[in-house]
Amino acid sequence: MTVKVTRDGGLSVLTLDRPDRRNALSRSVVLELGRLGRQLTADPTVRAVVLTGAGDQAFCAGADLKERAGMSDEEVRAQLRSYRMELGWLGDAPFPVVAALNGAALGGGLELALACDLRIAAAHAVLALPETSLGIIPAAGGTQRLPRVVGSAKALELILLATRVDAVEALRLGLVNRVVPAGSDLLAETKTWLAPVLDGAPIAQRAALEAVRASVLPLAEGLEAELAAYERCLTSEDRREALRAFAEKRKPKFEGR
Ligand code: COA
Repeated sequence: MTVKVTRDGGLSVLTLDRPDRRNALSRSVVLELGRLGRQLTADPTVRAVVLTGAGDQAFCAGADLKERAGMSDEEVRAQLRSYRMELGWLGDAPFPVVAALNGAALGGGLELALACDLRIAAAHAVLALPETSLGIIPAAGGTQRLPRVVGSAKALELILLATRVDAVEALRLGLVNRVVPAGSDLLAETKTWLAPVLDGAPIAQRAALEAVRASVLPLAEGLEAELAAYERCLTSEDRREALRAFAEKRKPKFEGR
């Protein structure tokens, strides 16, 4: 198995498990992530997914360059299509997907993290899209997702100069949402950070994900998506429960109905 799966209540943790290749994306890793994605997105008990890497050197060192060296041009094209087919669920799931960067996130590794909704990093993580220094460009979504996160001028700088940024700089750029202090347990910190998601109202969280993801559409379409998402909350039992709990001065108990 190239990807390890563990479950803790509503939280599933996927761990890229090829530390000897710094968790690089081989063909089988990409297919395995797709297979797991289909399982997780069909499971209504999953409330959040964390994607991380084994060891503390790398989250993911990008394409498996040893495998890539033996591929024909057509096989490389097929691999790029496979990224689209198998990894799209990361930013499209009915729950938040969080990349927990336990070390370097380079090339396809950073693109994998960018496909997720949120990113949290260990203090020693380094992030880069070094593809232009290898005679290619990021083509697993990097040229599209990085500008959406850090703005096009900064994205172009990082891509053209193949700049490596450390965790503190990544936080300053908004490329990661949070950095955990050196010496702390990244996964434990991630679970604590996500506690409000695991305790919160599932319908509202799903609606928020859909509405915010629609913010890349033209404004009028995004505003329509926002209203449609609100409508699903309006008619939910969870909304009524929150009003009752407020009146009764207690914590709401959400059922996802
Ligand atoms: N594909 C396949 N194998 C990889 C790999 C990759 N992307 N990245 C690292 N490895 C392998 C190395 O070849 C090495 O294998 P070996 O022991 O058989 O020589 C092993 O992983 C350890 O690599 P090493 O560089 O010694 O580890 P490190 O902890 O010092 O550094 C990285 C980790 C990720 C910073 C470094 O390996 C690196 O920069 N990798 C290349 C990243 C890259 O350019 N990706 C492609 C972007 S388009």
